[in-house]
Amino acid sequence: MSTPVLTIDGPSGVGKGTVARVIAQKLGWNLLDSGAIYRAFALAVESRGVNITDELALVKIATHLDLAFKTQADSELVSVYLDGHDVSKELRLEATGEMASKIASIGVVRSALLKRQQDFATPPGLVADGRDMGTVVFKEAEFKVYLTANSEERANRRLKQLQAQGHKGIMSQILVEVEARDARDSSRKHSPLKPAKDALIIDTTELSLDEVIAQVSELVKA
Ligand code: DC
Repeated sequence: MSTPVLTIDGPSGVGKGTVARVIAQKLGWNLLDSGAIYRAFALAVESRGVNITDELALVKIATHLDLAFKTQADSELVSVYLDGHDVSKELRLEATGEMASKIASIGVVRSALLKRQQDFATPPGLVADGRDMGTVVFKEAEFKVYLTANSEERANRRLKQLQAQGHKGIMSQILVEVEARDARDSSRKHSPLKPAKDALIIDTTELSLDEVIAQVSELVKA
């Protein structure tokens, strides 16, 4: 029997990373944060000074990407290592997300990173979050969820997250960034952000984190 997979897709700032982490912990399953792979890839491209129009060079970097995820001993948080260096902080910067979104629209990059993502599906199960987990990477997944929320709410969540990390943010600016990233991720030719036909769509605008987790847990139990 193949490894069970739960895919959680959705736009930026919807909270899918947190939901995926909590559910994976509850189930004792592995976790794939596919956005972190695209973010780390973007950092690798930037640090090598490669132009994003040079597709051959991009594929070479993607194929040899030296990337490792390590769970911190004192918490459930995951540190990300690129070329042996901890890049967890840089990875979460808005500028890195922006760069990742641009580079993720290139078809050959997506193909080169496909197997690396699929390799995360090992027993006892996988929770995978991203934009195309249910539509492309794990098309045959047993459980599929698509989380959404209106852009104001997602910008608000992003602002709170930044504040909790001791950063400042301007709501109007974050809203513009969130909407621009959604537009790019949804309108691209390759693997655009959209719900899989067989996904459970949950509008989280009015829901608490616990309520979202309860609905997703229910789907997997059922
Ligand atoms: O989920 P995130 O914010 O960490 O993702 C950063 C960018 O990476 C996102 O704007 C688009 C890209 N991405 C993607 O194209 N496909 C995925 N499965 C995950 C992320």
